[in-house]
Amino acid sequence: MATQALENPAEIDTAGLIITPLQPTIGAEVSGVDLSQPITDAQRVAIRAAVVKYKVIFFRDQPLTTEQHAAFAGQFGPLYTHPTTHHQSSNTAIHSIAARDEREYGDRFKRVLDSGDAYHTDTSWRLVPTWGAVLRDINLPEQGGDTIWVDANLAYEALSDELKQRLEGLHVTHNFLGALKAVGQEYPIVAHPVVRTHRESGQKILWVNFSQQPQILGVELSESKALLDEILRQYKRPELQVRFSWRKNSVAFWDNRATVHYAVRNYADFPRELHRILIADEPLWADL
Ligand code: SIN
Repeated sequence: MATQALENPAEIDTAGLIITPLQPTIGAEVSGVDLSQPITDAQRVAIRAAVVKYKVIFFRDQPLTTEQHAAFAGQFGPLYTHPTTHHQSSNTAIHSIAARDEREYGDRFKRVLDSGDAYHTDTSWRLVPTWGAVLRDINLPEQGGDTIWVDANLAYEALSDELKQRLEGLHVTHNFLGALKAVGQEYPIVAHPVVRTHRESGQKILWVNFSQQPQILGVELSESKALLDEILRQYKRPELQVRFSWRKNSVAFWDNRATVHYAVRNYADFPRELHRILIADEPLWADL
C-alpha cells in the first residue's frame, strides 16, 4: 500500500523562528534561535507572541550558563526573586527545583509515587503573580521526570454550561503562608477569581492552585470541595494537556496566567534538578 508523507506542520514566522505545534491548543517546539546570545527585538516579540498563543513553548539543544538563562528571561520582564529560593547561584532569581528533600520524597519509589505533585501555578499567592517562567534542566534522570502543562482556557471551555454558571463570580484562595513562614516571611491570603480573563488573549482561564489549599469563598465548604473536585478532574484530562520529556539542554517557557502545571515524580530518589526563573508582571494588572 502506498504511504503518503505527513505534511510538516511547522510554521516559519517573520523573525525566522520555526514553530512546531505539539497539541491542537497547547505547546509548541521552537527552533531557529540561539538563546545563549542576545535576541533581536523581532525575535523577542515573536517568542512572547508564541508563549501567549501556545501557552508553553519548548526549545531543544540550547546549552545555557546561569548568566545566559537569566539574560534570556530578563528580555521578557523584570526577574522575580522567590522568597523560598536558596541562593546558591550568582543570580538571585535562579530557583533550583530539586527533589532532594528526604522528608518529602524519601528514597523509596512507592513513597515518591504517593506524594506526587499538585496541579499548580507559580506565585499565584501574590496579588500580582509572575506572568512567565523559564525552566531549564540541570540534572535529569535517564527516564521519567516529565512535566505536564494544562491548557487552562480549554479546561474552562470544556466545562458544562451549568458548571460555568456555578463558577461565575466566585473567588478561590491561594494560601502559601506555611512555606513563607518557614523562611520568616508573611503575605496575606489572597483570593483570585476562579475564572480569570487573560489580558492579552482575552481567553477565560480556569485558575486554581491545588498546592495552595484552595477554598472557594462565599459557598458552603462542601460546595467548595465539590467544585474543586470537578476542576481537578478537568485538569487531569489528557485531552487538555501537553507533556514534555526533558532532554539535556532543553528549555521550557510558559505563560503562568494561562496554564497550570504538574511535575511527574516517577524517578525514585534520583536527584532531578531544574533551574527556574520567574518573570514579574506589571503591578497595574493587580485585578487579573
Ligand atoms: C515547577 O513546578 O515550577 C517546575 C516543574 C518541574 O519540576 O518539572
